[in-house]
Amino acid sequence: MRVVCVLLGVVVGAWAMVLPKLTEPPCDSLEAEAAAAVFQDYINAQRTSGFKYALNQIDKIKIKTLANMEIYKMELDLLETKCHVLDPTPVTACPVRNKAEVAVDADCDVVFIKSGGVLKVTVHRCKTEPESAEDVCLDCHQLLALNDTNALQIATVSLDAFNNRIANVTISKYAMLEVVRLSTQVIVEAPYIFAEYAIVETNCTTTDDYNCVPLNKTVATYGFCRASSDRAHTAVECRIFAPQLTDPNTNVMMPATSNPVPPTNNTVPVSGIMPLLLVEMILSAESAESLEPVKVASIIPIVKGQAPAAETVAPGGQPVPVPFVPICPGKKKHF
Ligand SMILES: *[C@@H]1O[C@H](CO)[C@@H](O)[C@H](O)[C@H]1NC(C)=O
Ligand SMILES: *[C@@H]1O[C@H](CO)[C@@H](O)[C@H](O)[C@H]1NC(C)=O
Ligand SMILES: *[C@@H]1O[C@H](CO)[C@@H](O)[C@H](O)[C@H]1NC(C)=O
Ligand SMILES: *[C@@H]1O[C@H](CO)[C@@H](O)[C@H](O)[C@H]1NC(C)=O
Ligand SMILES: *[C@@H]1O[C@H](CO)[C@@H](O)[C@H](O)[C@H]1NC(C)=O
Repeated sequence: MRVVCVLLGVVVGAWAMVLPKLTEPPCDSLEAEAAAAVFQDYINAQRTSGFKYALNQIDKIKIKTLANMEIYKMELDLLETKCHVLDPTPVTACPVRNKAEVAVDADCDVVFIKSGGVLKVTVHRCKTEPESAEDVCLDCHQLLALNDTNALQIATVSLDAFNNRIANVTISKYAMLEVVRLSTQVIVEAPYIFAEYAIVETNCTTTDDYNCVPLNKTVATYGFCRASSDRAHTAVECRIFAPQLTDPNTNVMMPATSNPVPPTNNTVPVSGIMPLLLVEMILSAESAESLEPVKVASIIPIVKGQAPAAETVAPGGQPVPVPFVPICPGKKKHF
């Protein structure tokens, strides 16, 4: 009997060493927020086209603690902002697209590894889709296909107008880098068309415009334009980004798209739906799967709600119940 007990002790000890601990901290906890912020920066730094995305809500978080690392598995909800990825404005200062302008939502599954105190994104998979605006208003924007002939013409005409905005002064000419969003809105029965596009500086000037080609990414400045047209009038507003050789957030060279022409092939996506579908440095399918708590749940207690104490102790030593606070999903930051 005694021998059995000792053996059991050894076995339990061995299990305790081997088995990882699984925790589910609250979605609004500091560690969840910190990881979500890492993903937000990552997704915006690694993309070279489209708009930046901002965190809206943390839906789930599970942390598996192994001997020398922690594996975080999270579900995050992001919203498209109005800042292009080349815009140096920090994403926290970028307004999100509201529902009336057709918000675009990205649902992301993200796996992080934290080792040596550093949290890194290892796998992510996002699904982006425009939110339906029908139930919001009748005169909401509607997205147009990125090959919409009328809207593309408005983009071209408005860029010409921008390039020729100052007469008789020698300034750089800009070329279309990427048409990012085309939309329409019916205002008092007149359809308005909106074109949003990124631009890149070329080797031409207003007084010397033979065979213009975009400058290379070391020297070019970039910008972003919003044009609107009711057919009778076209207005455009362009902002040239302050030149920067490195991205302040990542210290990485700012990316430039190699193809400076708007998409022309047959699989033209609808405006705003930027594929965020990049899975890289795969952890291997098994290890991602093994994050599922199912297999270990019966052996290892899942520690829910680590951060807020589940109960407090009254002066008499009796536990005092604390009102139940849902720990996931977290608060919505926008809508
Ligand atoms: C611009 O230059 C043209 C010819 O070079 C000249 O006729 C015109 O008056 C100039 N316009 C202005 C605003 O200086
Ligand atoms: C711009 O660069 C292209 C290709 O190098 C060249 O053919 C063209 O003449 C240049 N244009 C100007 C205005 O310098
Ligand atoms: C970019 O263009 C500048 C000016 O034309 C040139 O000095 C530089 O070598 C080019 N850099 C690259 C990486 O091509
Ligand atoms: C735009 O692309 C769609 C999808 O490939 C195609 O059916 C449509 O004809 C294209 N429209 C124009 C104006 O090129
Ligand atoms: C069209 O462009 C999309 C997105 O860039 C790409 O995935 C697809 O392979 C292209 N199709 C063709 C026929 O070039």
